[in-house]
Amino acid sequence: MKVDKKPDFSGDFDRLGREYYKDMQRRNIIRLLLTYLAPLVILIIFFNIEYDALLDEGKRLHLKSVAENQAKTLDLYLSERIKNLSNLIDNPKFQLPPQSETLAAYLGNLRMNSDAFIDIGFFDSSGVQTTYAGPFPSLERKNYSNEEWFTGLQEIQERFIITDIYLGFRQKPHFTIAVSRIINDQYMVLRATLEPSRIYEYLSSIEGESDINISIVNSAGLYQLVTSNLGTLLQESSILPPRSPRIGIEKAEIAGEDIFFAYSWLKQADWALIALWSEKNKEGLFSRFRLQIFLISVATMLGILIVIIYRARKLVMLQIESDQAKAQLEHAVRLASIGELAAGIAHEINNPLAVISEEAGLMKDLMDPQFMTETTFDDLRPHLDSIHDAVFRCRDITGKLLFFVRKTDVSRKPCNVNALMDGVVDGFLGHEMAVSNVKIVKDYGLEIPELTTDIHRLQQVVLNIMNNAFDAISNTGQISIKTSFENNEIRIAISDTGKGMSPEQMNKIFHPFYTTKAVGKGTGLGLSVSYGIVKSLGGKILVESSLGKGSIFTLVFPGE
Ligand SMILES: Nc1ncnc2c1ncn2[C@@H]1O[C@H](COP(=O)(O)OP(=O)(O)OP(=O)(O)O)[C@@H](O)[C@H]1O
Ligand SMILES: [Mg+2]
Repeated sequence: MKVDKKPDFSGDFDRLGREYYKDMQRRNIIRLLLTYLAPLVILIIFFNIEYDALLDEGKRLHLKSVAENQAKTLDLYLSERIKNLSNLIDNPKFQLPPQSETLAAYLGNLRMNSDAFIDIGFFDSSGVQTTYAGPFPSLERKNYSNEEWFTGLQEIQERFIITDIYLGFRQKPHFTIAVSRIINDQYMVLRATLEPSRIYEYLSSIEGESDINISIVNSAGLYQLVTSNLGTLLQESSILPPRSPRIGIEKAEIAGEDIFFAYSWLKQADWALIALWSEKNKEGLFSRFRLQIFLISVATMLGILIVIIYRARKLVMLQIESDQAKAQLEHAVRLASIGELAAGIAHEINNPLAVISEEAGLMKDLMDPQFMTETTFDDLRPHLDSIHDAVFRCRDITGKLLFFVRKTDVSRKPCNVNALMDGVVDGFLGHEMAVSNVKIVKDYGLEIPELTTDIHRLQQVVLNIMNNAFDAISNTGQISIKTSFENNEIRIAISDTGKGMSPEQMNKIFHPFYTTKAVGKGTGLGLSVSYGIVKSLGGKILVESSLGKGSIFTLVFPGE
């Protein structure tokens, strides 16, 4: 329940009061949550996204550098193997055609360089393997002239060729490095076959990156080297890196999941090296990080929430204390003003009472047979008049005072403001106007909506103000009455060309019994009573004045 109105506060507060402060506490909590927690949540989300992006970028760069380095290492490895072979065939002491034993000795030397070498063979220009050393002696004298690598080597400019991995005559995966040479117009080829798994072992041994998977594919996307968890040899890879740029990072969809991979094409063979994060890495790092962030965020937010609830409670407590203090103060002020009023009444009534008592005493003396004075009615008349005046003065005071205490119901009726003003001026002030040199100027606004108000009371207020205006003008002068309707407000402005007031005077004119008029002339209650009436009718009184020039009293009422 929303409670807009502050409860009437005296001592303990009731159900409505409790609702009011509960509602205030709720609003305080929401306001504090919006101020402190909302920015934090946004910050955490932003940080999360940014951190992910940063982490991703770092991982990508790392993957790319691994792919690049591994490709370089492999290139170096292959170029060394080519050099091993070309050193043999380019040696001037190379025997033509070589004997099987010589080749076997060469193979031994090659194996000392790398144990990936399986065998070695020498081919004449017709493509026949004339000499062979290695574990498959049946391959000797076989004709290779139609083999892809043999025809390929003849077609290219370079003197060497590295084949993809294939099964060949021996039906076992291997790849070939062949080097050609022309001696005495005779075309000849020395070739060795190599074991791919050895290279893989070599790569992984220098790798040291257990969370990165390395594989190698040929230009058709068939695995040349691969770990068993990714695929098998010569199987088609789901990743085929683009030809250009030669080194890069790309995204691929594997088993319905988007993953990124780094690749680098080799220089020595038409192969691409591919680096991927292993499953283990993906899971571990991300979930641990997320959990940490989540826990820290929840803990921080909980902490803030507790502080906010505590603060909101504290704020409401402070508010209750301050409201209580204010209520007590108001009470005290009310008591004080009642005291002031009582003192004022006592003072005002004491004067006429003193006059009555004095006059009564005098009359008693005059009538006393002891003094044997012959008192006539004419002797008594001035004293009786004095008593009469004093009683009327008392009645005047008590009559006005009744407005402070009487809680008579306000009876409202729609009325025409201009007609009401005419009624006061012509009806009540006719006599005043006749005897004074004061000119009354009316400036009535047209189309003023009817004002629903207590006509009798409003007349009394206007009369008070007009009387004050007459009193302020000592000789000749002018009183202007202006009625208007602006900004949905009905205004009645009464200005005079009287003596005006100083700012200090203006501060006091609404206090009861404040008067500058001669003793017996004014009670000082006119404006304070008027103020109470106008307030009860829902309006306000504005005062402007300048000393020696005049004053303007404006009554303002909200229009319907
Ligand atoms: N139009 C005015 N021009 C100058 N002074 C004014 C004007 N109206 C009020 N005052 C000052 O405000 C004082 C208080 O006015 P208020 O009507 O409350 O009492 P009063 O006129 O003195 O007494 P009463 O109204 O009982 O006859 C006046 O004594 C006077 O000094
Ligand atoms: Mg007055």
